[in-house]
Amino acid sequence: MYRSHTCGELNESHIGTRVRLAGWVQKIRDKGFVVWIDLRDRYGVTQLVFDQERSPEALLEQARNAGREFVLMAEGEVIERASKNPKLPTGAIEVLVSELKVLNPSQTPPFTIEDQTDGGEELRMKYRYLDIRRNPVKEKLIFRSRVAMQVRNYLSGQGFIEVETPYLIKSTPEGARDFVVPSRLHDGQFYALPQSPQTFKQLLMVGGLDKYFQIVKCFRDEDLRADRQPEFTQIDCEMAFVEQDDILEAFEGLTRHLLKEINGVETGAFPRMTYDEAISRYGSDKPDIRFGMEFGELNAVAQHRDFSVFNQAELVVGIAVPGAASFTRKEIDALVDWVKRPQVGAGGMVYVKCNEDGSYKSSVDKFYEPSDLEAWARATGAAPGDLICILSGDAGPTRTRLSMLRMEMAERLGLRKADEFAPLWVVDFPLLEFDEESGRYHAMHHPFTAPKPGQLELLETDPAAVRANAYDLVLNGNEIGGGSIRIHDKQTQAVMFRHLGFTEEQARAQFGFLMDAFQYGAPPHGGIAFGLDRLVAILGGQESIRDFIAFPKNNSGRDVMIDAPSPIDEEQLEELHLQLRPSAD
Ligand code: AMO
Repeated sequence: MYRSHTCGELNESHIGTRVRLAGWVQKIRDKGFVVWIDLRDRYGVTQLVFDQERSPEALLEQARNAGREFVLMAEGEVIERASKNPKLPTGAIEVLVSELKVLNPSQTPPFTIEDQTDGGEELRMKYRYLDIRRNPVKEKLIFRSRVAMQVRNYLSGQGFIEVETPYLIKSTPEGARDFVVPSRLHDGQFYALPQSPQTFKQLLMVGGLDKYFQIVKCFRDEDLRADRQPEFTQIDCEMAFVEQDDILEAFEGLTRHLLKEINGVETGAFPRMTYDEAISRYGSDKPDIRFGMEFGELNAVAQHRDFSVFNQAELVVGIAVPGAASFTRKEIDALVDWVKRPQVGAGGMVYVKCNEDGSYKSSVDKFYEPSDLEAWARATGAAPGDLICILSGDAGPTRTRLSMLRMEMAERLGLRKADEFAPLWVVDFPLLEFDEESGRYHAMHHPFTAPKPGQLELLETDPAAVRANAYDLVLNGNEIGGGSIRIHDKQTQAVMFRHLGFTEEQARAQFGFLMDAFQYGAPPHGGIAFGLDRLVAILGGQESIRDFIAFPKNNSGRDVMIDAPSPIDEEQLEELHLQLRPSAD
């Protein structure tokens, strides 16, 4: 037996008990006549004590020779500590060791295994197994496990069954590039790793399974960001005989359950906002509604004077930043520089200070009367003390830029509170979006999404106006999940493929299996997928998903610990019928 107790559970009630503990050396303090070792495991830290009066010299020597991160097994008696540490659950006791065994020595770790470590990001990624010993990382993984367990419990309780779908598939188009796997048995052919189990879950509905879920890995070869990894996990779901409302209700239920069980937060009915409304009020299809700063459109009250920048713009739009009228000239200049950064891309920013005394001071005082500025204040909902920030230009990019500024200001003003949760549904997404590069329409969600009832005909005349039965769950400015009601008949699916630029042969080659299945009694169905990594990070009060993944990839998609991706040897290449092009250098 390695241990009778964990390093986190002993307290005063155990005084006098003989125990055996196993764990890692957190710290050794050697005062000569007495040696203390903090022994750590997943559950906590317990202080071991060795002293000249009560322990043989050889045991003291053994304790002194242990180093940081050695794996020890210690046996002894729980005694009361002379100087207690009230901050530690085990702080009232220590273990007077009578027997010590080194189960494994350790090299000195490359960074300190403390809550605040001296190790940089890359070093901690390389030694991720050591990083996982640190409380902040370990706790995030335990947190993730709790969330996943709650998801399984809840969905099972609602009659969903978990079905595994294959990882070696044919590509499912979800808008990103596929990771592909060469086939050894089939010369020149490739599997693709699923970007999501989309087509399979639809086939499960044709199979009559009715309510499916899966906590499943998905793979997308896309550029990385704080909220994106090339492999990530979805809570993937599908239901048959449902309409949009049924799905929103079911998954609002799941989200409410998680907020309550995990965060202790009760939430009412989630607001629903159309895509168009989200864009015009917040400039984003994933608005953070924990705070105001809603967009005020100013065309009507800003394009009647001699200010050509505004007059030439498709859209003039502003937000009122609370309390920011007190910004100094220098602070405002810095803000203007911020919106001009290439990542934001604005040409400039017009501002109006709404002074506490009711007067206005703007960067365009030459062109506008105080009554104009007052109208702007009304349109943006600015109160005395606020700063109105105004951007102008083409509508789409201008809204996106102002949305970035809104989020930045909220961040700086501390309005994005990690323990406050504001979920909402964004509904009625456009079915298609025009891709300038390829010069054709793409499915905004995916090609299996159904248009809203009665809108199929619009596809012929005004494709951009067609709205889909598609919805996203947004939480604190993050897209947590997305889904749709699906097309379930072969004819509509064929029309859709045609509009997406597939010839009949291409559609047949790629999706013949789905079209075939639709001929055998496909029920009306729809579904949704939540990003588990994102959900867990947001519930945990953070936006970067990396720490909530045990072994994440770095910014360039590498696993620096196992060194992947990496070359494979000639023999393997040959078996896979692959030939590398000689590299340019
Ligand atoms: P979608 O592509 O919107 O929908 O993905 C669903 C959710 O998965 C998360 N997500 C990611 N998380 C981390 N890293 C990534 N690279 C990444 N990409 C997506 C997001 C997103 O909301 N098959 C459809 C679902 C359906 O229609 O039922 C789908 O995959 O949180």
